[in-house]
Amino acid sequence: RGRTLTFLRWPDSTDDHAAYRYEEDGGLLLRGGKIIAAGAYADVASQAGEGAEKIDHRPHLVLPGFIDAHAHFPQMQVIASYGAELLDWLNKYTFPEETKFRNAQHGRHIARLFLDETVRHGTTTVAAYCSVHKQSAEAFFEESHARNMLNIAGKVMMDRNAPEGVLDTPQSGYDDSKALIAEWHGKGRQHYAITPRFAITSSPEQLEMASALMREHPDLHMQTHLSENHAEIAFTQELYPWSKDYTDIYERYGLLGKQSLFGHCIHLSEREADALSDSGSVAVFCPTSNLFLGSGLFDYQRYRRREKPLRIATATDVGGGTNYSMLRTMDEGYKVVALNGEKLNPFASFWQMTRGNAEALSIADKVGTLDVGTDADIVVLDSRATPGMRLRMETVETLAEELFLLQTLGDDRAVREVYVAGKPAKSVIVA
Ligand code: GUN
Ligand code: FE
Repeated sequence: RGRTLTFLRWPDSTDDHAAYRYEEDGGLLLRGGKIIAAGAYADVASQAGEGAEKIDHRPHLVLPGFIDAHAHFPQMQVIASYGAELLDWLNKYTFPEETKFRNAQHGRHIARLFLDETVRHGTTTVAAYCSVHKQSAEAFFEESHARNMLNIAGKVMMDRNAPEGVLDTPQSGYDDSKALIAEWHGKGRQHYAITPRFAITSSPEQLEMASALMREHPDLHMQTHLSENHAEIAFTQELYPWSKDYTDIYERYGLLGKQSLFGHCIHLSEREADALSDSGSVAVFCPTSNLFLGSGLFDYQRYRRREKPLRIATATDVGGGTNYSMLRTMDEGYKVVALNGEKLNPFASFWQMTRGNAEALSIADKVGTLDVGTDADIVVLDSRATPGMRLRMETVETLAEELFLLQTLGDDRAVREVYVAGKPAKSVIVA
């Protein structure tokens, strides 16, 4: 029981009340990890059996769990690495850190902490990059499966332009991905993503292998990075001199498509944006990372409104990103959109963190809403979590204002509880 909020479609403005369903006194009936009834509390309560356990979350908001469409679990100890742009940041901090994940024990330790931190911040699904090591992906999936989370992850494929300790080969990258797919894809709620890191660290032979994996497993996601930083783009053009542009490389290897997730997409030409749009590919907006690394401003509104619109997801990109929270992420997203001269309405932000990201990841039939029949992945938000929030709430009159306050001041403290497949998942974490 609580104030339930779920979205039906993109909300055009704060007045677009048809875009969401809000119940001031709402209820959800959960059974077997799924939502089996939703609506006004009185109606839902009348459908519950005698023995049903009642949990009262009033006066808090009850939303679908947040979805993070791009993060790197081996980068927990990279966050807050000072003073570099993308390529230097990768060489100086990230690649050395990721070499540690050759050790399976270390991978298991960090996977547990990463999913603890993810859940603590209200995120119930993440599309995660593991390190190049097969055992890092095994560690992640084991931990995710034990928690019964719906996560998408893949072993990074990278065979050049990085230290020896984080390199595979076209053949070993293919073989390890293949074995991980066989073991983990479709096991419980686990999804495998084919994960060539980006064109700089994959040889043409390796992109060919990634392409083969996609053809052999057309239902899988593919995730990579695209057009994040000017030096990255220039180096990529040197490595693939025949290409029209950065996107063209992935295009020629058949990596575009409805299940393909491209992190960043900041400096795209119109041709590249058209190619992404035509193929139904997803551009992933990572505001805290793009600001932290000084990469640039993702033009969210232009991409949405162009004649050929892009499918867009939003994400933390931990550890280039600086926070695990989707609230903190969309707060920074709002500022990036503002720097591009527009305002992102708070309903659109919350749509994006939930249903919008679920649609972009093609998992909206399972998560991202409070619809009957979907998995019970839920977040409970307290708009008065801190003294400053409590004070500001005194002058808040509308739901839109409340959501905007949650986005602007909220973080893990505003997350009162999280349910993963119907079970409490935040309150049970032992710090
Ligand atoms: N491009 C290639 N690898 C990475 C990474 O780990 N983080 C970010 N932000 N960009 C990348
Ligand atoms: Fe990334």
